[in-house]
Amino acid sequence: MTAAPIVSLRGLAFAHPGDAAGRPVLAGLDLDLPRGGFTAVVGPSGVGKSTLLRVIAGLARPAAGSVVLHATPAADRRAVALVFQDARLLPWRRVAGNVAFGLEGLRLDAAARRARVAAALDLVGLAEQALRFPSQLSGGQRQRVGLARALAVRPDLLLMDEPFSALDAITRHLLQDELTRVWRESGASVLFVTHDLDEAAYLADRVLLLSGSPARVVRDMTVGLARPRARAGLGETVAALRAALAETFSEGAGI
Ligand SMILES: Nc1ncnc2c1ncn2[C@@H]1O[C@H](COP(=O)(O)OP(=O)(O)O)[C@@H](O)[C@H]1O
Ligand SMILES: [Mg+2]
Repeated sequence: MTAAPIVSLRGLAFAHPGDAAGRPVLAGLDLDLPRGGFTAVVGPSGVGKSTLLRVIAGLARPAAGSVVLHATPAADRRAVALVFQDARLLPWRRVAGNVAFGLEGLRLDAAARRARVAAALDLVGLAEQALRFPSQLSGGQRQRVGLARALAVRPDLLLMDEPFSALDAITRHLLQDELTRVWRESGASVLFVTHDLDEAAYLADRVLLLSGSPARVVRDMTVGLARPRARAGLGETVAALRAALAETFSEGAGI
């Protein structure tokens, strides 16, 4: 990998303060994510995928080791933005108000803020819905608002935690295509957690398989498929991922 990393993890360790046994979820984790790349993280439920994102986002403090973000400091953008499985919108704010929420605290005047909101809504195809309330949107539209809120801060690194897993297949596919386009247009680096191997193969140029306790990167696969990708052409990649996942279970490292 030649590109300078967007984030470097070194000797990263984390244990939940609430876990009486103090068993680490992460220990001695080293990882570099390439700038501008689309990296997917897959692995069994409970392995520590969300924990990893939270530590990178600065929402959880590591017990040891370091997270170094090689972001460009700026007063009008954030280094990191997060998108969750549920959009986590404020029900009393309109769509535009929800997107503007992420901009609070950034140095932007009112006109610049409005322009950011409009641009982000445009990117996710929600310009027409700017004045609606979350309750007036479909599940897919709500996830789009969550994505727009994250994009509006122009993050260097976009962290996504199973953002499409609660959506029906048709909506999920639409949003996957939109995300691919937005990723390419924005130049952001993406770290995308999913338990869906097809999704990982379709979206990512690199797939990390986390397994074990504490979690380790047990496979680091490059997805060399050309873009735009055909869903019908994912078979081999998905099969390789499935085999790797099955292998970690048979090694007893899955739990
Ligand atoms: N607040 C908490 N206190 C104690 N243990 C937790 C807490 N949150 C998560 N865990 C444990 O940490 C491990 C990793 O969780 P998580 O990162 O959410 O996994 P994943 O996202 O891969 O499903 C799990 O074993 C889970 O039970
Ligand atoms: Mg999770």
